[in-house]
Amino acid sequence: MGIRILGTGSYLPPKVVHNEDIARVLDTTDEWIFSHTGIHARHVAEAGETTSTMAAKAAKSALEAANTDPSEIGIIVLATSTPDYAPFPSTACIVQSLLGCANAGAFDLQAACAGFVYALEQARGFVNFYPDKKALVIGSECLTRIIDWTDRSSCILFGDGAGAVVLGNDEPPGVASTKTCAHTILGADGKGQHFIQRTGGTKDALELDPATGIPLKPSPVLSQLALMGHDVFAFAIRALSKVASDLCEKLGTTPSELDRVFAHQANGRIIEATARRMKLPLDKFWLNLETTANTSAASIPISLDQAVRAGELRDGMKIVMVGFGAGLTYGGTYCVWPNL
Ligand code: UT7
Repeated sequence: MGIRILGTGSYLPPKVVHNEDIARVLDTTDEWIFSHTGIHARHVAEAGETTSTMAAKAAKSALEAANTDPSEIGIIVLATSTPDYAPFPSTACIVQSLLGCANAGAFDLQAACAGFVYALEQARGFVNFYPDKKALVIGSECLTRIIDWTDRSSCILFGDGAGAVVLGNDEPPGVASTKTCAHTILGADGKGQHFIQRTGGTKDALELDPATGIPLKPSPVLSQLALMGHDVFAFAIRALSKVASDLCEKLGTTPSELDRVFAHQANGRIIEATARRMKLPLDKFWLNLETTANTSAASIPISLDQAVRAGELRDGMKIVMVGFGAGLTYGGTYCVWPNL
């Protein structure tokens, strides 16, 4: 009993770009990319696919797995840094329409690669408050449309895709919460705001017409992602291991008792260093980076769905989902599967 993940789903676009394809247009090699990142390939959205269409496919699959009708969903929380529109209407509203979730509120949440953990916590609060309703939590990204394909140090890292979960609360209304096994940590460090940035917002002032005060030209629309890889790398290892360890300590357990860790996958070497720091064998971490690359807010729910469909998660397993990203943001959730 309690707040539970009732079903999971994910979607990866069929088009795959291998490192060798990038090496045909940039000064790089499959050997360099794989040895420095653990990535061989990434899925790329083709024309007609967007963050909302991928999100809807992942969510539909999660609804089916949860045996849930779209009308039962009370809220859609969609984590993304690559919304269909920038920034409104929200991608969540488009998904609400695509799925026919007629009774759902819907909003996007932006916490970069930690977005899914943030979204899950928002949804957990919702179903805690409204136990008769269910929540759809989605991470969806179309990163290949915002990266600089001439920058070999960043374009190799990212891919597209979506993952989703349906959250429900099967505690009878009015009964005191029994969710003692769950805990979430959410954090941020805005001092690292320049480590990963996508420009093109309202930060840059426009020249005003001196006579009227009206801006003389419209804002630049298209923007691209820029990152300081080294700084993110060091932060990521600290954040992932600290959040996971702090969660265990809070719940009176130790990292060695964890059955599975679903860490945001930005670089295989970050995961390896995190495993070493936590003194955990690497096989406790779900790894799919080799073929999906970094899918930002979608990375954790895609991994979770793959693990569920591979039969790797059994009732009673202790798992941690932990992420970090631009902001800087970080966060993690500990749960005894499938309770939250
Ligand atoms: O999810 C959050 C976002 N993710 C991240 O921010 C990723 C975190 N950081 C990383 O994954 C790593 O820092 C990178 C993969 C981005 C870079 O790896 P690195 O081992 O830190 O390489 P580096 O930046 O120190 O570059 C070493 C050399 C440089 O050449 P010089 O200056 O030493 O001559 C780069 O120009 O490797 C060069 N280089 C490449 N060479 C071939 C950088 N990218 C490439 C490339 N192919 N794709």
